[in-house]
Amino acid sequence: MVGSAIVRRLLAGGASRLLLRTRAELDLRSQAEVERWFAEQQPQYVFLAAAKVGGIEANRSQPAQFLRDNLQIQTNVIDSAYRHGTRKLLFLGSSCIYPRLAPQPITEDSLLSGALEPTNEWYAIAKIAGLKMCQAYRREFGFDAISAMPTNLYGPGDNFSLEQSHVLPALIRKCHEARLQRSAAVEVWGSGTPRREFLHVDDLADACIFLMRHYSDAAPLNVGWGEDLSIAELARMVAATVGFEGELRFDPSKPDGTPRKLLDTSRLTQLGWRPSITLEAGLASTYDWFRSHQQSLRQ
Ligand SMILES: NC(=O)c1ccc[n+]([C@@H]2O[C@H](COP(=O)([O-])OP(=O)(O)OC[C@H]3O[C@@H](n4cnc5c(N)ncnc54)[C@H](OP(=O)(O)O)[C@@H]3O)[C@@H](O)[C@H]2O)c1
Repeated sequence: MVGSAIVRRLLAGGASRLLLRTRAELDLRSQAEVERWFAEQQPQYVFLAAAKVGGIEANRSQPAQFLRDNLQIQTNVIDSAYRHGTRKLLFLGSSCIYPRLAPQPITEDSLLSGALEPTNEWYAIAKIAGLKMCQAYRREFGFDAISAMPTNLYGPGDNFSLEQSHVLPALIRKCHEARLQRSAAVEVWGSGTPRREFLHVDDLADACIFLMRHYSDAAPLNVGWGEDLSIAELARMVAATVGFEGELRFDPSKPDGTPRKLLDTSRLTQLGWRPSITLEAGLASTYDWFRSHQQSLRQ
């Protein structure tokens, strides 16, 4: 989702020499393959958007893969980029690197100040190692590696599979299927009370390019919308967008995750960047995308 959005944004801005590889062409977990690719291609700027990504259930059931794949991907790419003369690298972390009970909104200074949310700690530990690796390579080798910590993202290219997806695409799919099947109710995981922030992936892509152009510092930067809402409010917005008029049935036996997760984005906004796609508009366009890509959705 993020990689494709960055590519769309770069192409729209006139970029002409993009070096792109699918996972089938280049498995970033393989140090030898990554090393060979960097030696041959020598990219000047690297956006590291590849990662093993998923929602609560995927994190719960595959802790080893979340930790191993992400550590391997980021270690291979950051190290090879540095050693083959890349001018600048942007590493994408995630807001789940912050402690479960971090004061809200969460500033970048909350990093490593408390215990992590257990439902995604494997992924979070890998992401923390990635941003620390960027800082260490900057300090020891002078490599211009920067890190951005996005909030929850959504948009075209998202993963709508019910086992792997995050809450927003899962709700779109459940409400869509319930409307078609004329079901009376849709089940929503958890109590509905946790609060979350959502950023459209095209806004994130714009922020990534802004940072690649204008930011060179060790400190990671939060990227978010600036406001949150409860999962119950989100579910109602999704249902309205999709046209599902039945009941939203919350299942408190399923995990809630962190009670609240809103990023403080004042450092980024002070640099001069702001998001522009409202949740209402973003949900509508994402639902259009979902409907027109039924045959090619990721599973
Ligand atoms: N989605 C969010 O809400 C969110 C929020 C905060 C931060 N982020 C961060 O943003 C970045 C991108 O996330 P996303 O939402 O765009 O996830 P995504 O849609 O799942 O994209 C990840 C990409 O990485 C590729 N990949 C995974 N393992 C690979 C490997 N071993 N070799 C080569 N490619 C591999 C995947 O390929 P396949 O399709 O073949 O698996 C996929 O194309 C990640 O660093 C993530 O942590 C995402």
